[in-house]
Amino acid sequence: MLILGVESSCDETAAAVVEDGKKILSDVIASQVAVHSPYGGVVPELASRKHVEAILPVIAQALEEARVGAEDLDAIAVTQGPGLVGALLVGIGAAKAMAYALGKPLIPVSHLEGHMHAAFLGQTSPRESFVCLVVSGGHTALYRVDPDGKNHFLGATRDDAAGEAFDKVAKLLGLGYPGGIEIDRLAVKGNPHAIAFPKAFMEKDSLEFSFSGLKTAVANFVRHHGLPAGENESPSYRIEDLVASFQETVVDVLVTKTVRAANLTGTKDVAVVGGVAANSRLRQRLTGAAFEHQLNLHLPPLRLCTDNAVMIAAAGFTVWKRSGFCLDPLELDAVSRWHV
Ligand code: KG4
Ligand code: ZN
Repeated sequence: MLILGVESSCDETAAAVVEDGKKILSDVIASQVAVHSPYGGVVPELASRKHVEAILPVIAQALEEARVGAEDLDAIAVTQGPGLVGALLVGIGAAKAMAYALGKPLIPVSHLEGHMHAAFLGQTSPRESFVCLVVSGGHTALYRVDPDGKNHFLGATRDDAAGEAFDKVAKLLGLGYPGGIEIDRLAVKGNPHAIAFPKAFMEKDSLEFSFSGLKTAVANFVRHHGLPAGENESPSYRIEDLVASFQETVVDVLVTKTVRAANLTGTKDVAVVGGVAANSRLRQRLTGAAFEHQLNLHLPPLRLCTDNAVMIAAAGFTVWKRSGFCLDPLELDAVSRWHV
């Protein structure tokens, strides 16, 4: 079954053709990083406008690279939510129009379910139920996912998502946007144990997260010790140590809770997906923890951690297999909040 996936929930316009939820025939992403970077974060109206410019060329390129014509597709899967409504509507509008004009089924996909499907697109895939940590700029939540793709919520952040904490700390330190990758790069040269930051909800059995206190702790640290490149010419710390310590605190919590979720649910397979799953230290620590606790760890390739349309096409295949759920193209609307 050939599915065209379309994704436009935030700041990437993406389209991909995937066969039977597994075989990637094309994977096209038009990033808006350069557009939002001067503002230090995503500007929703600018995002919508850029999606309008990019959506048709991106879809055309995805079909061309896959060497398929639009009429060869079996279905079109599109991110329905959650995300920025104006941004979502661009992808939805294009997918709806194509489905209607071609007489093809339209499959609505949750962005989160899309991220979870990246777990099946790495070097190894879960075969049984697995614990999935979705950790991105918008979400930090644990689920148990069944082989048919159905998921069960286990716990989530009460405030900031982990990626949001990365981005806010990076902004505070003047490291640019998106901040996660910058912190990752800089932290490699730092001492992760240089500064002790607070970790929330570490008590037994909690599967909740909180990162806003950590962000405040970093802001307080900087207030007391000076900004790395601010008026204070020689701060009493190395920026590399600061970001490495911040990152280690986030990673500690994410690894602990993922292992805990596996233990509490008696699950041997775990996957970590979403933009922050691209973090090198997180991947390293997860690999160590999986070895120590004898867990089968599934990590998507880096490109499929951050937003892409391959995961939407793959999830679309599962949604269709599970429920045959397709919409009349004229019925579909964007959903800004969506609890999977
Ligand atoms: O999944 P994604 O592309 O979009 C959302 O659905 O939110 O995730 C983007 C988030 C951003 O917060 C970004 O800073 C973070 O993922 N991120 C990283 C890394 N690469 C992206 N965070 C830490 N380390 C990275 N290497
Ligand atoms: Zn995402």
